[in-house]
Amino acid sequence: EFLKKKVNEPILEYKKGSRERKALEQELSHYSKNVTEVPLRIGNKKITNNLERKQVMPSDHKSTLARFTHATKEQITEAIDVALQARVSWEKKSLKDRAEILLKAADLCAGKYRMSLNATTMLGQGKNIIQAEIDAACELIDFFRFNAVFAMDLEKYEPISTKLSKNTLHFRGMEGFVAAIAPFNFTAIGGNLPTAPALMGNVSLWKPSDTAVLSNYIIYQILEEAGMPPGVLSFLPSHGPDFGDAVTSSPHLSAINFTGSVPTFKHLWRRVADNLDRYVTFPKLIGECGGKNFHFIHPSAHLDSVATGTIRSAFEYSGQKCSACSRMYVPKSIWETLLKKLSEIHSQLKVGDVRDGSVFMSAVIDDKSFDRVKKYIDYAKTGADGAKIRLGGTYDDSKGYFVQPTIITVTNPKSKLLTEEIFGPVLTVYVYNDADVDKVLESVKDATPFGLTGAVFSQDKDFLYKARDVLRDAVGNMYLNDKSTGSIVGQQPFGGARLSGTNDKAGGPHYGIRWTSPLTIKETS
Ligand code: ALA
Repeated sequence: EFLKKKVNEPILEYKKGSRERKALEQELSHYSKNVTEVPLRIGNKKITNNLERKQVMPSDHKSTLARFTHATKEQITEAIDVALQARVSWEKKSLKDRAEILLKAADLCAGKYRMSLNATTMLGQGKNIIQAEIDAACELIDFFRFNAVFAMDLEKYEPISTKLSKNTLHFRGMEGFVAAIAPFNFTAIGGNLPTAPALMGNVSLWKPSDTAVLSNYIIYQILEEAGMPPGVLSFLPSHGPDFGDAVTSSPHLSAINFTGSVPTFKHLWRRVADNLDRYVTFPKLIGECGGKNFHFIHPSAHLDSVATGTIRSAFEYSGQKCSACSRMYVPKSIWETLLKKLSEIHSQLKVGDVRDGSVFMSAVIDDKSFDRVKKYIDYAKTGADGAKIRLGGTYDDSKGYFVQPTIITVTNPKSKLLTEEIFGPVLTVYVYNDADVDKVLESVKDATPFGLTGAVFSQDKDFLYKARDVLRDAVGNMYLNDKSTGSIVGQQPFGGARLSGTNDKAGGPHYGIRWTSPLTIKETS
């Protein structure tokens, strides 16, 4: 069906009393009451000894959701051997056969497992119902389906053959294995990082985030049920440095598919550089890193859409989307009116436990995150950089890691509140003189080392397109008169420029090619 229409998975609404809402509530209750054991998976082995680690609920950190263990370096090395053996037959399968497994997995995610994916993403990663649905259901399903058809489209191009030579191009998987290092903030990314390379004939070692172990393991089980052969994907929760050291020390590392922080990605590059003389092939390093995403507001902007778009971008999922707006530039002439509008919406935002179906946002992911965000708010409270807290500014970790949605203004355009990634529900605003609009626009271009997302709001189309051109190098995904979050697979291929990553555009038609080592064959008669 999907192959004919290529439509995105529809978002379910979960209205109170609806069949889907009841089914979701049942899963929430099940996972809240039971501690799930998450094993390591290497080939046919399920390893459940020493489940000494736990995944807790961010909004109720005394509640344990899952128990798991970290793979040792020896186990990671064993998984590499098993993966290399599995690769022999996996890479020889036709793309169609491999794609069928992902298409089947997509159907299982859309039906039988939708509620468990959503419930574990809500409880474990602190998403409200809709934020879970657009991630753990829709985006994950879309990744599986669109990757499969995009990959088959790649094969449509045929090199020119002549009377003398028959030329063919084969999108062969890479020799070796892929290390997939997944983040906590999108369950869908957890599923995409190891499977997109697998689709192209590779084998992947999958290191989920400790704070998303449960939802990621459900995806692993779905893939298994869909027919993914043992060893093609290993599931290896691990201590980051152990995993990084083990995979970068192997001569057979063919690629790293990473989503996480800039310092960790740089560390992996350095480890690969240190080991260059060992490798069978040059590993491809593909990374999706941080951001300091902006909303730039022109005096002509439509203020209601700025207000709703900014609140949604900055605070949905507690500002923990890599694409979240965390700095905003506003002209003085409209600031007071805009602040009033922001304040009206802000006063209605409900923050609390994800099981309360009406919350707008919940807690940040863990204690480290809470402490980091708190430090930035405390810095603002000192008044440094002319900082003033305009809305929110409170936090409380007695039950869950709660930080209220916070809006700060600063007068110093170089303030760390405007340049550093906070990764929480904190938005910093710089109010500029209307007459300086062009100068400020120019300064936004190089204000941070990142280049992920950015939005310009302007009803003056000349300015809008000028801004688009000025900011061209400063983003990977640009939004004109829309918020900086919410890219959809197949519609807005996603990825950041500069230090935000290698910009390989997940969810786009060319993503798959990065996971291949194409083979050209010329045959003469
Ligand atoms: N793809 C996610 C978004 O655009 C990160 O919000």
